[in-house]
Amino acid sequence: MKTFENFLTALDAGILTVSFNRPQALNAMNAESVREFGEIVDLVETDPAIRVVILTGAGPKSFVAGADISRMQSFGAFEAREFMLAGQKVLFRIEQSAKPYLAAINGYALGGGLEIAMACDLRYAADTATMGQPEIFLGITPGWGGTQRLTRLVGKGIAKEMVFTGERITAQRACDLGLVNAVFPKDQLLEEVAKVARKLVALPRDTMKMAKHAIETGYDMTNTEANLFETAICGLCFGQDEQREWMKKFLNK
Ligand code: COA
Repeated sequence: MKTFENFLTALDAGILTVSFNRPQALNAMNAESVREFGEIVDLVETDPAIRVVILTGAGPKSFVAGADISRMQSFGAFEAREFMLAGQKVLFRIEQSAKPYLAAINGYALGGGLEIAMACDLRYAADTATMGQPEIFLGITPGWGGTQRLTRLVGKGIAKEMVFTGERITAQRACDLGLVNAVFPKDQLLEEVAKVARKLVALPRDTMKMAKHAIETGYDMTNTEANLFETAICGLCFGQDEQREWMKKFLNK
């Protein structure tokens, strides 16, 4: 894969690890990082060698400490809206991706950092990580989906508490709330997330893609529509190589 100014990438056995890499600013995202992030997400989609993506932060302290405040300070309304839209477009593409994204939250996941993690399919945190939507301290609201994905993940009451107060929560609290799937000791985080990724690589790829599609697309439908959509998705799996192979494997075992 080509090299990027604000990211490190490493591909190993179908697992692409992407590290946000602006440690001098705790990996805060500026417009150029957002552009590069979008480029990486597009490359993931078209490269058949990539089966699963892990997002993490370079450096010892941070996943992503949000959008770059030094750049945002002078934004006008339209410029700010463009920046928010550019980030949101990348996050939508992650949700619509055919491949699973895993967030390995190794430190601060604040503002846009938490919003990036929330667009991933699975989230794992270091025991020392903290998360929050601190935009209130800057006189703005979340702009990369924080009012929406957070509400859907933890419910209105907790989302409002986090967005209104701006206070950070611990990894363990995030896990208790269902905001992260599991917490690991910091020095074991990447290996534990890689274990999950290896498990996913070994499972039927197209079926997993369809399962993600059913969950993501069904989420915005009515319950009846979503369940009917699911029947169509499940029906589509039949007759495919993966269904034939995996059912045969089960019956022959
Ligand atoms: N944008 C731009 N720069 C940022 C940043 C951000 N979101 N978050 C951290 N940085 C920079 C700091 O300005 C500092 O730069 P400097 O060394 O040139 O002064 C460097 O990263 C280290 O941050 P520092 O604040 O010294 O580290 P800390 O460990 O004391 O505190 C945080 C860490 C994350 C609690 C604190 O940096 C913070 O609150 N950041 C802003 C988080 C935020 O509001 N995000 C949402 C933005 S919408």
